[in-house]
Amino acid sequence: MITQFLLIIFLVITIVGAYFRYNRAGRLMHKIPGPPRVPLLGHMVAMYKSPDKIFEHLRIWNKIYGRLWRLDGAHIHTIHLTHPEDVELILSTTAYNQKDLPYTFLQGWLGEGLLVSNGDKWHQRRKMLTPAFHLKILNKYFSVLCEHTQELLVTIENELNKGKIDVVPLISKATLLIMCETALGAKPHEIPSINSYIQSIHKIGECVVKRLIKPWFLVDFIYGLSFTARQERAVLPDLHNFTKNIIERRRRKRNRNTATGIQENNVNEVKATMLDILLDEEAKGTINDKGIREEVDTFLFEGHDTTATALAFMMMRIANEPDIQDSICEELQDIFGDSQRSPTIEDLSKMKYLECCIKESLRLYPSVPFLSRYLTKEVVIAGYTIPKNTYVDLHVFDIHRDPEVYPEPEKFRPERFLPENTAGRNPYSYIPFSAGPRNCIGQKFATMMIKTLMSGILRKYRLEPITRPEDLVFIADLVLRTNHPIDVRFRPREHLTSN
Ligand code: HEM
Repeated sequence: MITQFLLIIFLVITIVGAYFRYNRAGRLMHKIPGPPRVPLLGHMVAMYKSPDKIFEHLRIWNKIYGRLWRLDGAHIHTIHLTHPEDVELILSTTAYNQKDLPYTFLQGWLGEGLLVSNGDKWHQRRKMLTPAFHLKILNKYFSVLCEHTQELLVTIENELNKGKIDVVPLISKATLLIMCETALGAKPHEIPSINSYIQSIHKIGECVVKRLIKPWFLVDFIYGLSFTARQERAVLPDLHNFTKNIIERRRRKRNRNTATGIQENNVNEVKATMLDILLDEEAKGTINDKGIREEVDTFLFEGHDTTATALAFMMMRIANEPDIQDSICEELQDIFGDSQRSPTIEDLSKMKYLECCIKESLRLYPSVPFLSRYLTKEVVIAGYTIPKNTYVDLHVFDIHRDPEVYPEPEKFRPERFLPENTAGRNPYSYIPFSAGPRNCIGQKFATMMIKTLMSGILRKYRLEPITRPEDLVFIADLVLRTNHPIDVRFRPREHLTSN
């Protein structure tokens, strides 16, 4: 009886395996190089590793198999790209900008917000939200950035006695508060639940990582019964309530103002927040309450986490590059002299060297280490026909470390981004904000935020190394993370001079 049962199982596996191997997609994919695979399961066994090992193996496979290679499991096919020309082919057009896994892991939280949505919905929302990122609007947020920079400096001062500071939670809270005030018009005292919101984001991040490393073929209904899914369902209400309350408060405030005819002319008030633009659209009937929540959740997540990650890695690296830190400070000295005054927008545009350092840091530590797209039609890439329904992973992390484009790629050299050195470089070889029609909508705002916070910190503190670049152990995640804290020592600059 048992033998017959095993025989039937074996036959079923063989038939299904043969189907996936010899159907059109299987035949086309089989021509593409990739790590050794086992029948039917493909690379699922090779991918069943801890998050840091997956990260490490992806780097190794990118080196071994080069421009285009594949991973698969049963009916799921993925190809992996690192060549700028292939990246351009995918990113430069809306024909290949469909998103599916792993972005769908975020759907419970972000619904069909801009980051995750597709087709007409994405197009309509992108058009609706683009004006919110116009430079004129962003400039209005500048005073908020300066205020939060001062508050961050005070927080750092209060933590100086620790000797070293784990910069990720420190900066994450600052960027989240900035996003709440600029995007949603909510001041810090109006959001007492911010700490539990940060904890919930952290928990949901852990769930996403567990999902990323689960054997890919595990269909969603099996996943739905798992412990991770239960954990995820438990934190989602906290996340949704947080934004729901902020939206409700803003809506009530607007209604009150309309009823009383009050114009918000308080100079400290950010007038047209991104949320206001959405609420105006709601009044026109182009978006509903659920849609607003999806976009607000998306902005908060995309806006604060990626920017905090960029800043945290940059602070660690600058702490380890004393000469470069000195050059940034010379530039700041030229702009501000010994004055303690707040920066202006014009000052930001003078910080050319700092801008090169930000770019170099995002090259080495791209907050979004890979992008993924789902092909809805066949495409020829580097001479291979890639079947539809294939996932295309673009490895930003490796694209930015190509020694042909960036000699001695691990070295921190801001001059790589001087205009004379970027001339002639394929723009798709540097894509920290992605590129093409589905690029980061918040790119200018992010750069403004990083410049303001970083210049504010470096005017007051000298950064000294605790975590070294060679200590970093990255893990596979949607945002670049390490499996340990990123520590930096802050030494007040007046203290340095008095010594
Ligand atoms: C250093 C900071 C940032 C980095 C490195 C970054 C990077 C990216 C990348 C690589 C994408 C494309 C994702 C993909 O296609 O898979 C993206 C999309 C997006 N980003 Fe950013 N981002 C940053 C800051 C921000 C900020 C401050 C905001 C909002 C205020 C924002 C909002 C978005 C949104 C809404 C999308 C989805 C765009 C779409 O699909 O049309 N990002 N970002």
